Amino acid sequence: MVKPRIPQILVIGGAGYVGSHICASIFSSGWAPVVLDNLSYGHRDAARFGPFIHGSTQDILTLSDAIRDCDVVIHCAAYMYVEESVKNPAIYYRNNLSYSLNILDVIRRANPRVGLIFSSSCAVYGQPPALPLNEDSPCQPISPYGRSKWMVEQIIEDYARAYQLRAIRLRYFNAVGADESGVIGEDHNPELHLIPQLLRHLLRHKSDKVAFEIHGDDYPTRDGSPIREYIHVCDLAEAHVLATHKLLDGNSGDVFNLGTGKGTSVLEVIQTVREVTGRDIDIQIATRRPGDPAELVSDFNKAQQILGWVPHRDFRQAISDAWTWHKHRHPNG
Ligand SMILES: NC(=O)c1ccc[n+]([C@@H]2O[C@H](COP(=O)([O-])OP(=O)(O)OC[C@H]3O[C@@H](n4cnc5c(N)ncnc54)[C@H](O)[C@@H]3O)[C@@H](O)[C@H]2O)c1
Repeated sequence: MVKPRIPQILVIGGAGYVGSHICASIFSSGWAPVVLDNLSYGHRDAARFGPFIHGSTQDILTLSDAIRDCDVVIHCAAYMYVEESVKNPAIYYRNNLSYSLNILDVIRRANPRVGLIFSSSCAVYGQPPALPLNEDSPCQPISPYGRSKWMVEQIIEDYARAYQLRAIRLRYFNAVGADESGVIGEDHNPELHLIPQLLRHLLRHKSDKVAFEIHGDDYPTRDGSPIREYIHVCDLAEAHVLATHKLLDGNSGDVFNLGTGKGTSVLEVIQTVREVTGRDIDIQIATRRPGDPAELVSDFNKAQQILGWVPHRDFRQAISDAWTWHKHRHPNG
């Protein structure tokens, strides 16, 4: 009897934080993830669930070889520091936009039947006029990073119309947490995300008296600090498995928010971190960061209805998993 062929899934950017968790989920589903990553921010030892190609999305030949025989491409390779994108937009448009175009063109030429999953971001929404944000909310990104994601999304729509590209765009809210195994987790350098910054601060400073800086306490929110939505990275990863099923079943493209629908303020984040770690945290209020919206909260109903996706892990578990990971990975902060 001929064994059924195992679908080949290429994860571009799979040595990074979200990408490595996507690979873990793909692997657990019985598929074979292949990672292509230039390790500009990723880690070789995070790409541990299948073959690894050390290469860049800049390189058309490498992309062609990697994409030719695969069934689904998951594209999560990007730079993602919002403030850096304001200071140096050129590298963001080059890496996030122009090299994404390489991927789309290689798919068009070398393997037009392949399905694509694109890691987009809630940054495409910019300053929201109304909450919660659903996929039809206006996209008015306010940073070059957000614009690079939105431009790729628009190009994907054009390619879908003109070349029948089948692509699912996933707009992530803030990924947090780590795989429960403790083997992979968030390890960005520099680390600019609130929760890992906070956890590293606790590991670095044994005394509770070194203050942690937060930006702004005068936003029009319930406690004056900005409200964001945090989604456990393993829930995020599982959405990619469901989206992969859709593409393997021959479905065409779509766009989905991946969030929890529950906003958490910066002060609430700090309180949960205090409770989970058993450590006190002294805070110092600094000025607001320009362009930080007061509140971002998602409506993820569409992903629930069409992908059958429901986030299972709550915020406290995400903090607890992240704390376990950071203690193991960065014991000295
Ligand atoms: N982390 C979040 O909270 C979040 C939220 C919204 C959207 N996103 C998006 O999700 C994706 C993954 O984010 P992450 O947090 O895992 O970031 P990350 O930096 O940990 O991972 C990105 C990976 O892409 C690789 N990469 C970058 N440019 C490349 C190139 N030209 N060729 C090959 N590899 C390249 C990096 O080495 C890294 O391993 C990004 O597209 C990001 O914009 C992330």
